[in-house]
Amino acid sequence: AAGRSVVVAVDGTSGSGKSSTCRAVADRLGLRYLDTGAQFRAVTWWMLRHDVDVHDAAAVAAHAGSPVLASGTDPLAPSITVDGTDVSVEIRSDEVNAAVSPVSAVPEVRARLLALQREIITESTGGGRAGIVVEGRDIGSVVWPDAELKIYLTADPAARAARRAAENGGSAAAGDAARVAATQESLLARDRIDSARAVAPLTMADGAVHIDSTDLTLDEVVELVVGLVTERV
Ligand code: DC
Repeated sequence: AAGRSVVVAVDGTSGSGKSSTCRAVADRLGLRYLDTGAQFRAVTWWMLRHDVDVHDAAAVAAHAGSPVLASGTDPLAPSITVDGTDVSVEIRSDEVNAAVSPVSAVPEVRARLLALQREIITESTGGGRAGIVVEGRDIGSVVWPDAELKIYLTADPAARAARRAAENGGSAAAGDAARVAATQESLLARDRIDSARAVAPLTMADGAVHIDSTDLTLDEVVELVVGLVTERV
C-alpha cells in the first residue's frame, strides 16, 4: 500500500555480492542501506587497535560496550565511524578479515550491535520514510524477522574469491592465482565460523528467497531483488 515502509533483509556467505547488490537495490528504490558486517568489522578494528586478544572471548566481551559506532546509511556513500574516526578503509584489511569472525561470535558484541541495528531500522522506517536494505548474516533470522522481503544470497566459493580479488585490484592473470586461492581460503574459513557459532549463526531464514549468484551478473541479481520488493510491497 502507498506510504508503507519496507525492510529488505539480505543475508548470505562472505563475498556473495551482498554489498553491491544491496547498495544498488537501495539506490533504485530510494531506501537507506545498512551494512551490519561493517559494524562487526569496526568493533574488531577497535579491539585490535586496543590490543584486546580477539581469541579471548571474555576479554572481547569486557570491551564490547566501549567502541562508539555511527553508521552512515546513504547507499551511494555508506560510512562507518568508531569514536568519531572514519574507518571505512581500515575495516577491509587482512588483519580485520582474520579477526572479525571470532569477535562476531561473542554474545556481548552481538547484543550490543543488535540493539544498534534495530534502532537504525526503526529510525529508517518511521515518520513516513521509505525503509532500508540491511545486509548481514542474521538479519532475516534474528535482527528483523518481520522483514517484508528476505533474501539468502550465495555463490560458489571460486566465483566469490575471483570477485573479491577483482575488487581488490587484481586480475584473472596467472600471477594472481595464489592470491585468489588465499582469498578463497579466508572466505571459507569465515563461513565455517559464521555458520557454526552458537549465537545467531549464518542460516537461511524462514521465508527467505534463495538466490545463487554464481552465474548471474550484478545487474541480474539487482533486477531480481527489485522485482521481488515491488511484488511484495
Ligand atoms: O559481510 P562481511 O564480510 O563484511 O562481514 C564480516 C563478518 O562480520 C562476518 O564474517 C561475520 C560477521 N557478521 C555477523 O556475524 N553478523 C552480521 N549480521 C554481519 C556480519
